[in-house]
This record gives sequence, C-alpha cells and structure tokens, in this order.
Amino acid sequence: MCGIFAYLGDKKTAGKLVVEGLKKLEYRGYDSFGIAEKLPNKFQIIKKVGKISDFDPNKAKLASTNLAIGHTRWATHGGVTKLNAHPHLSSNGKIAVVHNGIVENHDALRKALQKKGVKFISQTDTEVIPNLIAAELEKNDFPTAVRKAAKKIKGRYSFVALKHDEETLVAARNGSPLIVGVEKFYPKNDGERHGKADGSAFFIASDVPAFLAYTSDVSYLDDEQMVVITRSPLGDHFHGRFFNLNTGEAVPKRIVSIELAAGKAEKGSFEHFMLKEIFEQKETIAKALNQDEKQLKLVAQMIKKAYGSFFIGCGTAGKVCAAAEYLFASIAKKHINVIFGSEFDTQEAFLTPKTLLVAVSQSGETADVLEAYKIAKKKKVKTVGVVNVAGSSIARSSDVILPVNAGVEKAVASTKATTAQLAILTLLAYTVAGKLEEGKRVLAEAASQINDFLNPRYSAHLKTIAEKIKNVESMYVIGKGADFPMALEAAIKLQEVSYIHAEGFAAGELKHGPLALIEKNTPLIAFVPAERFRHDVLSNVAEVKARGGMIIGVSPKNDALFDEWIRVPNVDTAQPIVNIIPIQLLAYHLAVLRKNNPDLPRNLAKSVTVK
Ligand code: M6R
Repeated sequence: MCGIFAYLGDKKTAGKLVVEGLKKLEYRGYDSFGIAEKLPNKFQIIKKVGKISDFDPNKAKLASTNLAIGHTRWATHGGVTKLNAHPHLSSNGKIAVVHNGIVENHDALRKALQKKGVKFISQTDTEVIPNLIAAELEKNDFPTAVRKAAKKIKGRYSFVALKHDEETLVAARNGSPLIVGVEKFYPKNDGERHGKADGSAFFIASDVPAFLAYTSDVSYLDDEQMVVITRSPLGDHFHGRFFNLNTGEAVPKRIVSIELAAGKAEKGSFEHFMLKEIFEQKETIAKALNQDEKQLKLVAQMIKKAYGSFFIGCGTAGKVCAAAEYLFASIAKKHINVIFGSEFDTQEAFLTPKTLLVAVSQSGETADVLEAYKIAKKKKVKTVGVVNVAGSSIARSSDVILPVNAGVEKAVASTKATTAQLAILTLLAYTVAGKLEEGKRVLAEAASQINDFLNPRYSAHLKTIAEKIKNVESMYVIGKGADFPMALEAAIKLQEVSYIHAEGFAAGELKHGPLALIEKNTPLIAFVPAERFRHDVLSNVAEVKARGGMIIGVSPKNDALFDEWIRVPNVDTAQPIVNIIPIQLLAYHLAVLRKNNPDLPRNLAKSVTVK
C-alpha cells in the first residue's frame, strides 16, 4: 500500500528515474502521486491526482539532479487531493518526506508541533514526520534527527527523507517494506563486516521490481532500522550505512543478488496483467509443485506434532486457507484451524510453543499477517510461510518457507498465486497423509488439464457469458466442501474488478436466508461436483432455478438446470484449483466490458501494508 521510490547516484536524471520506478509500483496505490527533486538549497515538488502511469516525465519540467524521492498513494488519512499527495514538506521547507504506513499518534504529535508554531496544510498523518525531523534538526545532524523523529512515531511505517541542503538520503522502516538497491556494488567493502555498502548509485523502493532494470544487488531494511546514503569522501561513489533505529548503532548488512528477471514483470502481448497472469496458470501449478521434498516433509511433521496448527491469510489467501481446512480433513483426516490474519490476535489464549502458524501470502508484506507473526514470536510459536515474494518480510521472518514460485504477480486481483497456493496446500495435505506421490500425481494431472483447457476459445466462451450478465446488480456463488471457500473467492474476484455486488455461500445455506435475494434472472454461479455431493448441490441449484435465477454451472458434467455450462475437468482433490480459473476469466471480462481497469481496481492496492 503506497509505493516509495528514491534515488541518489551518479546520474543527473533522478526525477525521471523516480517516475519510472513509481510506475512499476503503481499497483501499490494509484490515487495520486508526487516527487521531490533536490535542487541547491530547495526542492522542486511535482504532485498530481491520478495515476502515475498517465504521467509523461518528458512533458514535465524535471530538474537536472542526482537526488529525488517519489510516492504513489493509496489514501489512508485525508482525501485524494493534490495537497494530501506526497511528498510532504516541513513547514519551514527544509525537509521532504514520502511515507507508507500509518502514524497512529499523528493527532497528538500534530497538536504538540502546532503549539511550537508549525503550520499544517494537509489532512494527512504523514505531514507530522517532516515537521518532527525539522524540530529535531535544531539540536542534531540530519540522520540523528530522522532517528529521533522515528522514535516518536507509533504504528507501522516506512519513510524516506531529504534535507534541502544535503546530498543525503535517509530511510527508516518499522513494519512497511523498504528495499535498498545498490548499483555497481563494490563487494570489496563487505557490508557484512563494515555495516556499509558502496555503489555508484542507490535506490530505495517498496518492492524490488521497481529498480530491477538497474540492479539486482539488494539489501533488505529490517524493522527498526534505518539507512543513510551519502557521497563517499573521495567523491566518486556513494556509501550506504545501516543503523539500529533505537540505539543508533551500526548494523551489519548483507547485500544479496536476487534472481528475479525484470522482463517477467511485463505485460507482453496481453492487454492486461490480470489476463496474462490468468493464462500463466498453464505453467504455474507445475512450478508450485516443484517443492523441496525435505522441506515439505518437515512441515508435514510440524503439522502432525503441533498442538494445534493455525493457517492464516487475508482476502484471497484467507480463502485458500479455508479451502485447505476441507482438503486436510478429506485427504489427511486432520483438523487445522483457519483464521483471517486480522483475527489471529483473538486466539492468543490458545498459543503455546507447541502451536504452529502457517501463513499464506502472495506479497509476504501483508500487515495483518505480520502482526500475527509478532504475536506468534512472542508466544514462541513456530512459523511456516507459504509466500510468493522471496525476500519479503514474511519470508524472512518464517522458520520454514514453502515458496509459491508463481513469479511476479502485478494485477491487484490475485489469480496465479491463488491457484499455486492451493496446489501447495493440497500437496501438503497429501504429505501429512503420507501420500506425497499420490498428491503429485493428482496435481500434475490437474496442471496438464489446465494447460489444455485454458485457451483463447475458453476465454471467448467466458466473455460471451460476461456479455449476458454485465448489467446485473448482484450475483451469487455457491459451492460445497472446498468449493465453498472457492465460492467466497469467486465473489471477491467478481467484486474487486467488476464492481458488481457478488456474494459466496455454502450451497446448503441459501435456503436459510439468502434465497430471498433471488429475483428473475439473478445469476447464480454454482460449483457442481461430478460425483460426491453433486446431487446435494443440484438440489440447491434447483431451488434457485424455481425462483427465476439464471444458473451458471461450473462442472465437469452438464445438467438440464444450467442456463450456461462452464466445463471444467474432473480432477479429484484439485477441483478447487480448476474451478476458480473460469471465474477469474469471467471477472476479467466483466471488468473490461464495464470499462474498469482490471489491473488497478478502484479503492484497492496490491500489497496491504496497513492494519
Ligand atoms: O499478499 P497477500 O496474499 O498477503 O494479500 C492478501 C490479500 O490482500 C489479497 O489476497 C487480496 O484479497 C487480493 N486483492 C485478492 O485478489
């Protein structure tokens, strides 16, 4: 949520580099954006409401400077206005800040600063940060002022600060991600030993792909740490030094070379990332199955031994966990507890060192999950991360990682990461049951079936159905067993990109209330199994049909009750994986037909780094 990008280096096009970097972070927030370029003794600020992707840096009067910061916003405090867009300046104009997160005590800090004569011009919580730093500057140098200001902030945050008259970049992190990229890293000055890195240029960003075109040498800023980037005394390159935010002591840092290919994060011939990522599921299931079996068996052992396992995730990842509850019950005859990340703190009473926490997250940066990790660590609970982004905060905090291997997922609506997570948890259930080979067979068969049916003709069929329902006000989705959480997931997918009101239910629950919502032609999407439970779900479908509902059956077999049949292969326990794919396509086509941008849905952001 909110994207941060900063550059200090040997190029004089810092402003343009920041704009380009922000464009790669747009999925993190896209209601407004801004940059601050450092000029001699002042800043040039450009702010705009709207998407950074619509901004042409060649048409803006960017300065010639080697130091700039920028931000693409997902509003938390204060409406979407130019004034509320970042960067924010201290009222004396000396400090510029871009920020991701929430300053929980902003009200008290603002009042205290106002008493000292500080004038605020925005409604944001962020504006207190540059003013706190400016106040600390009266007695401290710039990095110390940042550190002391950071200590006054309550909440999860990351921010980058500039001073009007210094060639210095300072960034601090406590909760929200920040990664430092080092261009032409000089490994002789081993960061591990010296607590510093040297390079011809430094980038700071909320996510690695933003600077991957320039460097893949990175250092992850951890919580309660800061980095200070300055020109070296020789003047020919730059130093990055890392410190503990609380004590100010230097901290050792490793620079790691990461393997993400920059090109993979591009759209290629697809009109949208969402469509490209849906089609990538032809390969990603197979990649997800490519797990280190030792690790898989280790996690299976941990689940078996645990005195209670909690599977947690948020949004789509939460639905994947809910599907896993059914899969573990049917495949491994094992009960697991499933709870949304934001609800995990209500379970504190049940946590002991024998509890296991399995967190599912595409980004690895979701604040609600990271908060759960804090509680888990406090209670000495072991943690397993099923994470797509290597090097993310959840990946780095987990005792064991099962990598999702889905590659960069850019569209806000999760698709390929979802099915890859489902595949891994299904395989894990088989491993717990001592049937790993059987699990691999079932899932490999599903992967090959997906490769077969997921083609342009299939997508065109879903588009035809989308044409028929594109103007409805509401639609409903039902399923039984692991298809029930898939019904919830289908509803999220439809909501987030088509903006049509959609809700998912356990098939048998309709008649206990929601049936009252069915009117003539209300679409009902039903996940109808080929064998077990087919009869039960069809009975529920018939109840809707009898009240005029339009039935869209997702099933390996057609039925006279279906107005539209979406054919899916019959793939045993991998059914939830193949069932959700056509609904991802349906949601995509609805979004496009309704003229929504499926990659950047309104009000949302890809990575939710606030509570
Ligand atoms: O990165 P995470 O998997 O932790 O994200 C969790 C949710 O925010 C995410 O799944 C969200 O619900 C998606 N937009 C759904 O498509």
